[in-house]
Amino acid sequence: MELRLQREELLRRQNFVGGVWTDAADMARYPVTNPATGKVIAEVANSGKADARAATDAASEAAREWRQRLPRERAEILRRWHSLIVENTEDLATLMSMEQGKPMTESRGEVAYGASYVAWFADEAIRIYGDLIPQQQRGKQMWAIKEPVGVVAAITPWNFPLAMIARKIAPALAAGCTVVSKPAEDTPLTALALAMLAQEAGVPAGVLNMLSASRDQGIEAVGDWLADDRVRKITFTGSTAVGKYLARESAGTLKKLSLELGGNAPFIVFDDADLDAAVVGLMAAKFRNGGQTCVCPNRIYVQAGVFDKFAELLVARVSALKVAPATDPQAQIGPMINPKAVAKIARHVDDAVSKGASVLVGGTRLEDLGQNYYAPTVLTNATNDMLITCEETFGPVAPLYRFETEEQAITLANDTPFGLAAYFYTRDMRRAERVSRRLEAGVVGLNEGGVASEAAPFGGVKESGYGREGSKYGLDDYLSIKYVCQGNLD
Ligand code: SIN
Repeated sequence: MELRLQREELLRRQNFVGGVWTDAADMARYPVTNPATGKVIAEVANSGKADARAATDAASEAAREWRQRLPRERAEILRRWHSLIVENTEDLATLMSMEQGKPMTESRGEVAYGASYVAWFADEAIRIYGDLIPQQQRGKQMWAIKEPVGVVAAITPWNFPLAMIARKIAPALAAGCTVVSKPAEDTPLTALALAMLAQEAGVPAGVLNMLSASRDQGIEAVGDWLADDRVRKITFTGSTAVGKYLARESAGTLKKLSLELGGNAPFIVFDDADLDAAVVGLMAAKFRNGGQTCVCPNRIYVQAGVFDKFAELLVARVSALKVAPATDPQAQIGPMINPKAVAKIARHVDDAVSKGASVLVGGTRLEDLGQNYYAPTVLTNATNDMLITCEETFGPVAPLYRFETEEQAITLANDTPFGLAAYFYTRDMRRAERVSRRLEAGVVGLNEGGVASEAAPFGGVKESGYGREGSKYGLDDYLSIKYVCQGNLD
């Protein structure tokens, strides 16, 4: 199967600034490659400081008018954008599979997932309520009103090239903010196509601006946004190290920040769990996107009484996974994003094996398929001193750890600086309540591996960041509260 677009014009190679498709100021370009083949798909604008500045100029100019629009008008534009995303599912999925490598079924699923945030925030746009505060003194009235924070810089990762940018741009536009954005260097094509559909939906010039940039140039471009006091908020999904850098560098202009950062999710299976359900949940959570997901279980703790049975059920399923490029309609796991990602996975597995883990299935690169493939892997006898326990592997590797008591499982699960997602399986209702409260995570899957939803507040605690995306809470990150005190009313 060839990956071809029905609308060739959705493959954009330029930046979108002030409603115009434009080259980088210095005409620079960089190649975007297909991780399945290493072949160049397109050369796109390699933006720097000057382009970032032009995007901020356009966004701050457009902000005055956009914030004055009735919420209903903003909602209508978002609804049109949502319809166009859904209508163009096949092309968006194709672009995503070409640049990111994920199987087409997953890419189609991601288009629907990303679009659901646009629909959700179209509906939320008209529900931005304030408060009339109960009167405290005669002749005085107090209100709290919510206002857009201003220009937002959205910086997004390569693992979900559509959903992550949609779930930042949609609430920003709904709230009345304007946006400058930079998708990940590896995956700008899906995001640029999304910008084109936003243009077709009637998003006014300057309200959404998008730049592509290679790693080094991207640092320059983002640096300009960090220093510019017209940019009032940064929303970022990516590594904790970069999140800390953004927090430090934006301190000079005290921007509002939403940081959705790294995870190291525990997945706990208690003796009383429904083991079949737990295996299905783990497969969904662990192997989605080839394990390249911040909420992927990274450490799988299984209670001693069911350890062997659970390992057997898991190995049967993992052995059956089909690894192939997105051109294969049967593919369930594609290539990893780049050779560096594969090298990290191999380093984690080799380190674990050198410290006593055994490979139950996988444990090797799949060089016959290409340089970016790694076999879905299950390890047993994993222990705390292994790299795989402390760092996010971001690949299709499931290390199993044996535990004896509930207390021990909770201690192990929380023994990490991260706190994005955690999962556990039990049939005991009292344990369900107790463990849910004690897990240090922003998102808990209780007898459930699929936690993602536009209706849910997504975000972490500890070094996994702050802010929430999706749900009724997701708009708050793009709003500030103004208190008005009106006097002399008597
Ligand atoms: C992520 O990996 O950062 C997000 C995953 C999700 O939305 O489920």
